[in-house]
Amino acid sequence: MITRQKRIITYGTFDMFHIGHLNLLKRLKSMADTVIVAVSTDEFNLGKNKKTIIPFEQRIKIVECIKYVDMVIPEKSWEQKVEDIKKYDVDIFAIGKDWEGKFDFLKEYCEVVYLDRTSGISSTKLKKSLKTLLSIPHDELLKAFDILETLRKDLE
Ligand code: CTP
Repeated sequence: MITRQKRIITYGTFDMFHIGHLNLLKRLKSMADTVIVAVSTDEFNLGKNKKTIIPFEQRIKIVECIKYVDMVIPEKSWEQKVEDIKKYDVDIFAIGKDWEGKFDFLKEYCEVVYLDRTSGISSTKLKKSLKTLLSIPHDELLKAFDILETLRKDLE
């Protein structure tokens, strides 16, 4: 008997690609044969007042190269999900628990699951760390790097 391959879809920004993103994509691949990832465009993000560090063209290329991902598409609007699910014959819609309950209306079209997030990391956190680092005066940063270099040499 031939069983039909399962298809799963997820949506996200994937800015400053990190271990939380990788864990999620790996989990998706363990749940289905085909993993489809919709990466949000810069225009769509701007509409949500979200400014990314990494532009769309690079974010989608990075996600495309992840071995757990079979197909990437752009996410251009909130409304496209139903159309995507039908067009790509999707069995499961999956997304992190930060969206819990928000996409239950898709249950009419496929299974909907909310997955545990990896704790302690997010693009927002990384952006904040970068901002803090950039706010340190240049000469103080150089002094700190000198101290770190001395410590590193001492450890050799
Ligand atoms: N995700 C996750 N664990 C994390 C961060 C993200 O499982 N620590 C999941 C999200 O739940 C989502 C997907 O990765 O399903 C893409 O999330 P995205 O919003 O791009 O990542 P965040 O790091 O949460 O970004 P932001 O801080 O801008 O919300």
